[in-house]
Amino acid sequence: MADMKNDMAYILADEEELKSICKNLGAQISKDYEGKNTIIVSVLKGAFVFCADIFRNITVPCAIDFMSISSYGSGTTPGAVRLIKDLGVDISGMDVLIVEDILDSGNSLSYTIDLLKARKPASIKICTLLDKPDRRQAKHIQADYVGKVIPDEFVVGYGLDYDEKYRNLPYIGVLKPEIYKK
Ligand code: IMP
Ligand code: MG
Repeated sequence: MADMKNDMAYILADEEELKSICKNLGAQISKDYEGKNTIIVSVLKGAFVFCADIFRNITVPCAIDFMSISSYGSGTTPGAVRLIKDLGVDISGMDVLIVEDILDSGNSLSYTIDLLKARKPASIKICTLLDKPDRRQAKHIQADYVGKVIPDEFVVGYGLDYDEKYRNLPYIGVLKPEIYKK
């Protein structure tokens, strides 16, 4: 039987570490967003697992909504960003916290922020589980909350995919290059 774990070169963040990242970021966010009119904007699909965990570690009132953008197609290099599904609510005057799976080239977040800023929220901040600074193209994009800074490796699991696979792994692993090079 094909075990997805065999496709990993190594585990980059195990379940224990992910749990503690969510706990720590959740505590920080809860402190910073006390008394604010907060809405979490979760960027599908990659961020949905992280978002569900961090959401439950936020102890102050906050709304949540989802938007979906696509930037990768089925490859491992950044492509054009496309809006697949927009938010269902008006965010004007609200304190928006974008929750992302990974900040890589920064093009997706640059696109998302431009889109949301035009709607006049009171503030916009970024929370990303992973930050891969080596390949940054949108230099002005910086995350306010970062779970873990990682090297320039293609990672999967905990919501992140390669060709729609591996999102259901409970940890984050580095995919063996031969998987995406074949
Ligand atoms: P960016 O626009 O290059 O910053 O890429 C952001 C999006 O690309 C993320 O939200 C992911 O969906 C995807 N992505 C970037 N790096 C990886 C990776 O190592 N594994 C899986 N998806 C990735
Ligand atoms: Mg994403």
